[in-house]
Amino acid sequence: MADMTTEEKLQGYAELHNYGLAHLKSSALNCAVELGIPTAINSCGGEATAVDIMKKTGLVPAKLSHLRRLMRVLAVSGIFHESTPSSLAVGEQGETIYRLTPASRLLARDGKSSDMSALLLLFTRPDTTVSTFFNLVGWFRDAGTKTPFEMAHGMSPWILTKMDASYNDAMNHACVADSDFIMDIALKEASGLFQGLSSLMDVGGGHGMVAAAISRAFPQVKCTVLDLEQVISKAPDCGTVQFVVGDMFSSIPPADACLLKAVLNSWDDDSCVKILRRCKDAVAEPPI
Ligand SMILES: C[S@@+](CC[C@H](N)C(=O)[O-])C[C@H]1O[C@@H](n2cnc3c(N)ncnc32)[C@H](O)[C@@H]1O
Repeated sequence: MADMTTEEKLQGYAELHNYGLAHLKSSALNCAVELGIPTAINSCGGEATAVDIMKKTGLVPAKLSHLRRLMRVLAVSGIFHESTPSSLAVGEQGETIYRLTPASRLLARDGKSSDMSALLLLFTRPDTTVSTFFNLVGWFRDAGTKTPFEMAHGMSPWILTKMDASYNDAMNHACVADSDFIMDIALKEASGLFQGLSSLMDVGGGHGMVAAAISRAFPQVKCTVLDLEQVISKAPDCGTVQFVVGDMFSSIPPADACLLKAVLNSWDDDSCVKILRRCKDAVAEPPI
């Protein structure tokens, strides 16, 4: 291997620090959401100093300097925008002002616009999502067929939602937040997809946010959600969506079309083929 230039060595060194400590960015973001920092900045009119944020989030003054460091990490990562007033007299110290960026605007809870906090909290959930990847090397060295999730937790995510109410809630809230956000855009940009349907089966449709949005936009489409018992039993009744407890690997009730959103990505290829075969059977049968 040819010798590296000093510039290459320093670039490699910086990249190793960046990647090796990248988990701090994710932990910092989880902390900011748990503390309610995006909501705090939003409630200050969209811009706030560290002192404003400290007061709004109820932190003690002893943590102020650490809060500034947290905000620094997140500003460098593009989660917040930071600026220091430039028109200061010599010797005067300006307070850094933090503003929301498009990413953190999606994390501010104002009761009006999309709130992706629940999805972010699932992505960064320490005891289930993050810990899944603690022993990837053990998974690579294992000759079995378990997924990293199964190896870390002893079961699939969809058994864990049955066993662990808090994980079930976290998963369902995350799916609702994601669907709420994406359906707004999907119905504006691709509503043609649903024209002409009279029935739709949302397979693994969770709490029915997607189905409810489609049935609001297309009242003539009879929307049904198929999901597991632990999910359906907690789904809110929106009045227009029918919920069915079932297993998509066994049988899917007939409909004009099946919808799969954020379902296939958690299965291997063979399982995806099985699910798609059940969908094919469902759309081949005349709807009841
Ligand atoms: C990531 S969530 C997506 C939920 C919804 N489609 C959305 O995008 O908001 C995957 C869903 O698949 C459901 N699921 C997993 N295994 C299933 C099975 N065998 N039969 C039916 N649903 C299942 C889960 O309970 C969960 O609600």
